[in-house]
Amino acid sequence: MRSITNPGPRIVVAVDLPSRGQALELADRLDPSLCRLKIGKESFTRSGPALVEELQRRGFEIFLDLKFHDIPNTVASACRAAAELGVWMVNVHASGGRRMMEAAADAVSGFKRRPLLIAVTILTSLSEPELEEVGFTAGLAATVNRLSNLTQASGLDGVVCSPWEAAALRRNLGDDFVLVTPGVRPTGSSVDDQHRIMTPRDAIGQGASYLVVGRPITRAENPEAVLRSIASEIV
Ligand code: C5P
Repeated sequence: MRSITNPGPRIVVAVDLPSRGQALELADRLDPSLCRLKIGKESFTRSGPALVEELQRRGFEIFLDLKFHDIPNTVASACRAAAELGVWMVNVHASGGRRMMEAAADAVSGFKRRPLLIAVTILTSLSEPELEEVGFTAGLAATVNRLSNLTQASGLDGVVCSPWEAAALRRNLGDDFVLVTPGVRPTGSSVDDQHRIMTPRDAIGQGASYLVVGRPITRAENPEAVLRSIASEIV
């Protein structure tokens, strides 16, 4: 397995762009030795595995952010397909439960360069009342904690979390657990629709393993320059 002690580039650029052409154009302006790329549901639904393969050919490692959530057999098969595609990281919803996560971990375990397998605990878009409405009544922090513990106990590599949750999770779950944090904004850049943001340097200081950064890079006049500046901030 690829070890967290040699994590490679810590910046993961969220390629939330509507077309394959735009995604490739952005990739041409970025250096794969400084970042990985995150491909989400929109890009994947439009452009499919071919886009992932094209980006991998250009030297980028890919976080396939499809947040699988289904019965164990289906999620395991999807994770195996992601491993066959050669992605660096893939994710599932922790609320799919222990058996689903164990099946996913088992499905990728035999691959020589297996993807890191991480879980989303609670979507950060959900407010406390909305969380309660869907039946999670223990409160946000307790639920995130509970699902992070379950993720680790189920044999996964880590979770997606807010940089504001990273320090506590790092303390509870140890140095080897992967923490992937969106909601990162370089000083002076637009907050967009994110709420609880943190600078790249602070997020790493709180224990984040990888930083997901989208619009500050993808919408910049010079994406490469912003990427370089973030990379130099966190060395
Ligand atoms: O453009 P921005 O830096 O806000 O992009 C952040 C990326 O991380 C987006 O792809 C967004 O969907 C994703 N994300 C997030 N918050 C989460 C989980 C994922 O912002 N809790």
